[in-house]
Amino acid sequence: MAIVAPSLLASDFLHLSDECKMLNESTADWFHLDVMDGRFVPNISYGLPVIQQIRKATKKICDVHLMILEPEKYAEEFKKAGADILTVHYEACVHLHRNIEQIKGLGMKAGVALNPHTPVELLKDIIQDADMILIMSVNPGFGGQQFIPHSLDKIRELKNMINEKNPNVKIEVDGGITLDNAKSIIDAGADVLVAGSTVFKSADPKKTIELLKKL
Ligand code: DX5
Ligand code: ZN
Repeated sequence: MAIVAPSLLASDFLHLSDECKMLNESTADWFHLDVMDGRFVPNISYGLPVIQQIRKATKKICDVHLMILEPEKYAEEFKKAGADILTVHYEACVHLHRNIEQIKGLGMKAGVALNPHTPVELLKDIIQDADMILIMSVNPGFGGQQFIPHSLDKIRELKNMINEKNPNVKIEVDGGITLDNAKSIIDAGADVLVAGSTVFKSADPKKTIELLKKL
């Protein structure tokens, strides 16, 4: 059974506390929280004060996806705000190994995200140190985009690398996940499904989460 991590980027910000309550009552496993800086990605989402509030509203795991440059400047602040997992982008880190050690040293799980154009093979010297790899299956920055089909090959390739080098690493897939394509993503090797629009824009979000869990 996959871990389901709804992305609150697609939630109703005016009623954030109701959205958190809905997720708490649902079978969702994690809260996926997308932070964008308008530099690494061409969009700005929300940041520390919002995550601090969400942290107060749930006991579930807060999975924070940083789409920001120089994430090392903020890792400690995100820990204080309540992040359990902190994922940084391969493309945004000059000293990725140092960043991962910093995140783990602060007591969080460390994730590394790959943009659609970044090959999985570049992870060969970092896979031993990461807790999770996030495969972006859309270009980061916006919800509601179409799943890029070749992401499935990347997931399979990553799964092989993980089996060989560090079986504890989880594979998270983020972007364009629907009830129609989720099964193929799990079959390719995904452990964690991030779903924004599919959950929050559905008529019955709790039911949709339940359906994702049942795949
Ligand atoms: C995109 C974010 C995603 C986004 C996914 O940059 O990382 O987490 O919220 O949204 P959907 O599921 O709508 O593609
Ligand atoms: Zn995300």
